[in-house]
Amino acid sequence: MAKIIVVTSGKGGVGKTTTSAAFASALALKGHKTVVIDFDVGLRNLDLVMGCERRVVYDFVNLIQGESTLGQTLIKDKKLDNLYVLPASQTRDKDALSHEGVEKVLNELSESFDYIVCDSPAGIEHGAQMALYFAEEAIIVTNPEVSSVRDSDRIIGILQSKSRLAEQGKAVKEHLLLTRYNPERVERGEMLSVQDVEEILAIPLLGVIPESEAVLKASNQGVPVVHDSESDAGQAYDDAVSRYLGEDRPHRFLEKQKKSFLKRVFGG
Ligand SMILES: Nc1ncnc2c1ncn2[C@@H]1O[C@H](COP(=O)(O)OP(=O)(O)O)[C@@H](O)[C@H]1O
Ligand SMILES: [Mg+2]
Repeated sequence: MAKIIVVTSGKGGVGKTTTSAAFASALALKGHKTVVIDFDVGLRNLDLVMGCERRVVYDFVNLIQGESTLGQTLIKDKKLDNLYVLPASQTRDKDALSHEGVEKVLNELSESFDYIVCDSPAGIEHGAQMALYFAEEAIIVTNPEVSSVRDSDRIIGILQSKSRLAEQGKAVKEHLLLTRYNPERVERGEMLSVQDVEEILAIPLLGVIPESEAVLKASNQGVPVVHDSESDAGQAYDDAVSRYLGEDRPHRFLEKQKKSFLKRVFGG
């Protein structure tokens, strides 16, 4: 039986797809058979970040409508044998996903995978609700700014009232992942601090991912940032997934980087 995890936020552009790709890759790197599903019907972003966009033939909607089999639709990751991508359709509209259809696919995937990571579209409407409905755990991706925190708070409300577990009187396990964190801007008072966000949302902190150029580089190359083990964001995602799996790791990248002597003299 697979564990179903939704990566959600309410707001767009906060780092859900980046996180879904990094999280799924890190789970697979640590030996867990993982599939990552793009619920963002109409946009199709995950396959680009995973670097498999040219291999997409069939998609999630084809699978739901019985136009393709699971074997035909899943794309095996280029680097990891135990990682698969289920791409979204670029041409259909967001309502093409039905409850019954999604449930059937998740049940089928559940038989052979350890983790199912669901990359949610932005918003709190049909597509986002479909992505979170079957989740047992949720990674709430939030940027340290008021609008993002507000939208995350709304999505937490939906998780707690409209998910399948909520309907059964149970709770979805929530994890806060603060992304695009920039300690300098926090220090200048331009962004909320980790403590501010934790206080407002009141859910357990899984990790803090720094604002990092490595993320753009990774997505341009189609290689999820956890493969860049030298990078701050790659290390922060690795920490977060290790914590998720029960390891005790201290939080890093929360303080402003002190410039080294050479950097101060020569710039950079
Ligand atoms: N930690 C980060 N540092 C720098 N840029 C980031 C970071 N996380 C995400 N981004 C960038 O932000 C943009 C939106 O990210 P994406 O993962 O597509 O968000 P969403 O799926 O929530 O819309 C992308 O251009 C991505 O490269
Ligand atoms: Mg996205």
